[in-house]
Amino acid sequence: MVTLTEVTKVFDGKTRLTVLQGINLEIGDGEMAAIMGPSGSGKSTLLNLMGGLDLPTSGSVLVDGRDLSKENEEGRSLFRRSHVSYVFQAFHLMPTLTALQNVALPLHLAKVARGEIDRRVGRVLADVGLSDRAGHLPDELSGGERQRVAIARAIVTDPRLLLADEPTGNLDSARGDEILALLKMIHNGRRTTIVMVTHDQMAAAACERVIRLRDGRIEGDERR
Ligand SMILES: Nc1ncnc2c1ncn2[C@@H]1O[C@H](COP(=O)(O)OP(=O)(O)OP(=O)(O)O)[C@@H](O)[C@H]1O
Ligand SMILES: [Mg+2]
Repeated sequence: MVTLTEVTKVFDGKTRLTVLQGINLEIGDGEMAAIMGPSGSGKSTLLNLMGGLDLPTSGSVLVDGRDLSKENEEGRSLFRRSHVSYVFQAFHLMPTLTALQNVALPLHLAKVARGEIDRRVGRVLADVGLSDRAGHLPDELSGGERQRVAIARAIVTDPRLLLADEPTGNLDSARGDEILALLKMIHNGRRTTIVMVTHDQMAAAACERVIRLRDGRIEGDERR
């Protein structure tokens, strides 16, 4: 699903910072993998390259057979819309839209027909257990509920690849466990490939594979 070959990432600011140093990594179709490592080790940078949000300085990033390192911004953005979804620690919902409208947004952008949108949004809101909160604004939802809306929005397009950057980072452990169970259910039910950055041992334990980064290098890669 994702193949990184000799990927480096250098940020050229006031000081030159090499954040990823020759990463070789393959994420198989339908895998659920965790990326762990100290703060600043390059986890989010790596995830952003997998999602085509950013370009490597050198090396190639193949996602579902497409080399994103050779695509321009527009090509990557179109590819993302149809293949990749993101879940963030801070939810990133649109504050003026209801839960239902937030979930429907990617389908509107993809110009899906109205009836089909209603059907799919209704189904994923039920999947995440929020049918009875559909009309709530993000402000009117708990943290765990907001993250469930964000997950519903991420899966409503049926992406091949779901990238999650510390999805349980803003939640207490009970709420975090619910989110993990939900990701696991999505993984099992839809065979969605999931790559999740996490600091949480519980979250990593939910994954079949744990990749450890340190100083921009892979220092461990364990399957169970
Ligand atoms: N756009 C940028 N410009 C310059 N430096 C950056 C940029 N983005 C990230 N960095 C630097 O790259 C390093 C890795 O950042 P990254 O966000 O990937 O770390 P991380 O492993 O996700 O850390 P955390 O666990 O704290 O989220 C950090 O030292 C950071 O300061
Ligand atoms: Mg990060």
